[in-house]
Amino acid sequence: MQKLIIANWKMNLGLAESRALAAEYKKQFAGWVNTQIVACPSEFALTTVAKELKGSKVSLGAQNCFWESKGAFTGETSATALQEIGCQYILLGHSERREYLGESCRQVNLKLKNVLSATRIMPVVCVGENAKVRKAGKHLAFVDGQLKRALTGIKWREARLVIAYEPIWAIGTGLVPSTQDAAEMHLAIRSRLIKLMGADLGRQVPILYGGSVSPANSTGFLKIVEVGGLLVGGASLEAAKFNKIANFKQK
Ligand code: PGA
Repeated sequence: MQKLIIANWKMNLGLAESRALAAEYKKQFAGWVNTQIVACPSEFALTTVAKELKGSKVSLGAQNCFWESKGAFTGETSATALQEIGCQYILLGHSERREYLGESCRQVNLKLKNVLSATRIMPVVCVGENAKVRKAGKHLAFVDGQLKRALTGIKWREARLVIAYEPIWAIGTGLVPSTQDAAEMHLAIRSRLIKLMGADLGRQVPILYGGSVSPANSTGFLKIVEVGGLLVGGASLEAAKFNKIANFKQK
């Protein structure tokens, strides 16, 4: 399966900066065939970036959405509106949203159900434990619980889902799990997906790794059997650096 490499620009860029980085991506990934590349700018920059990426190999993704398609929900944006402006991916339940905005597994579940029923967008559900949970040796059970709650009550007819495993202690810190630790978690996630979705669909879901991904460590993660790609924050803000991460086959 082709690897999926997602850039999460978070809230790092203004409008002009987002447009400029999108233009750089377009250049860097011209004629690209190796991997599926996705850029997730801030919501206010989506239409600008969509225009800039037109005709390129880079797909557009959003960093969040609401769980209803329409209504009196001040300040929120629906997945259907995001689809209208060209989003093909949506990140759901990123740990920063869980931490700073109190986003719960139940909300992630509602958002996921809405994305699946109201759009054709690919949802990317983020999971991952913090340092305390990892130290206590409870990381596998913790992530398993997050998955069960996020995916509950869904009848799967197709494998329209991506999971991103991002240990919180690795995000933006320069720390990363060992290959064995990442492999152990990815295997555990795979077995939960198979239980929830059935073997056929559960095997098709790409499971990304995220957290301090860099050109120096990306190949190591991508070699792990169950790693279907990467979710990249800081290192995606420079197009050339991000290209090195995505260009793992030619290293
Ligand atoms: P990072 O962020 O690559 O800067 O650690 C990853 C993420 O939060 O998606």
